[in-house]
Amino acid sequence: MTRDLEVFNRIAEKLIRAEKETGVVKQIPFESLKSTFDLDLPEDSTQEEAFEKALTELVLNTPRTSTKLFFNQLFGGRKSKASLGELLSVLLNNSMYTYKVGGPMIAIEKNILNKISDLVGFKSETLGTIASGGSMTNYMGMVMARDKYDPDFRYKGRQVNLVGYSSIESHYSIAKNAAFSGVGRDNIRYIQSDEHGKMNVKELESQIQQDLANGYRPFFVNATAGTTVMGAFDPLIKISEICKQYDLWMHVDGAYGASVIFSDKYKHLIEGAHLADSFTINAHKMLGTPITCSIILTPHKNCLYDSFSNEASYLYQSDDNDINPGKISLQCGRRNDALKFWTLWKSVGTKGLGDIVDQEFHLADVAREYVRSNPDYTLYSFDNSINICFNYKSVSPEKLCNKLYEAGKLVVGYGKFKDQTFVRLVTVNSNNTKEDLIHFFKVLEEFAETL
Ligand SMILES: Cc1ncc(COP(=O)(O)O)c(C=O)c1O
Repeated sequence: MTRDLEVFNRIAEKLIRAEKETGVVKQIPFESLKSTFDLDLPEDSTQEEAFEKALTELVLNTPRTSTKLFFNQLFGGRKSKASLGELLSVLLNNSMYTYKVGGPMIAIEKNILNKISDLVGFKSETLGTIASGGSMTNYMGMVMARDKYDPDFRYKGRQVNLVGYSSIESHYSIAKNAAFSGVGRDNIRYIQSDEHGKMNVKELESQIQQDLANGYRPFFVNATAGTTVMGAFDPLIKISEICKQYDLWMHVDGAYGASVIFSDKYKHLIEGAHLADSFTINAHKMLGTPITCSIILTPHKNCLYDSFSNEASYLYQSDDNDINPGKISLQCGRRNDALKFWTLWKSVGTKGLGDIVDQEFHLADVAREYVRSNPDYTLYSFDNSINICFNYKSVSPEKLCNKLYEAGKLVVGYGKFKDQTFVRLVTVNSNNTKEDLIHFFKVLEEFAETL
């Protein structure tokens, strides 16, 4: 291992230097990967030198999500203390199902879950776990809602016409999860959003009434805190009122935006989150921990057990359920996704996490101001969001983003809202500065002239 750590250090140093010097990588056509890199898996062992060379070349040519020119996804940048935690959890290689195998890491995870629960403002004690991404924690929310509404579902399968609700702007995992959970994709009603991308609650209520009149069984509403394209926050208090009135489970998908709980300035965006029946937050998006770190919390502690526990005498041989989180997990073996969040949180404190969030909103303000004050741009998104959606002159956003990527200039994607397609810039990398954002626009403008 010691020798391989030396290899790691050599490659990591080269990568970090390359990130600084050359930014993002040029696209390599998939068809030419085989002839460009040494990808073969040989019959016999590979010499150390050839091994390191092959690995170095692959690493240096892999898309660089931590550079100042990567704006494509709802994650980006590297928080070194979080990477340190992640590297150590890989070395430790625990599995988070039992205290016997997880040891202090189980307490670290619990600590994170409890702190987040307090910050959300849940009025009663909550129970939670970490799963492999926001799609999966959203899935857990839907499954708990399903089983609470119809406790027989998990034994007998679908007996009644369950229907769930989510805004048209919500993440595609809701549709997939409806398929996985046996609810059925066609049984998710997509509620229109208002002009800012927030769920239209009047339409939500009238759709529920219509479904009840038609014999359907409404069971679940997904409210999004930070939509994928516009970064909009659904009105949680109003949605909760409707959920209470019709006895529906409210899941808050805060995979993207719920990190505002750390910011005194922006936590008002998620007002009402404490009313959720289940709540998702991803530390690997706005908070910059390595992928993935997705948390689900619920004040209905029994629901996590009811939906996810299973007896396994080969596994649960010691300690209480309380410290054997496998009993409330989607998975059996589970990575330690807690340590990287803990190392980041420990090093910067709760205030430091708030600063990360504030910096992202500051960068968003800088970008919006740039777009607003320049007549060559059209802005489509709104304040209080870290998604800045715009078009430049009459350049096709699809063409612009794809060509920028192929040329290795910038990595940014496009999105769509109410029939309008645009470039979607996300200021989710808090390591960036105002100058980096201005540089983004300059690179884009210069490149656009060449198209
Ligand atoms: C609002 C929202 N929910 C859920 C997800 C899914 O999260 P993950 O990529 O961790 O599965 C995303 C991803 O972008 C998202 O934007």
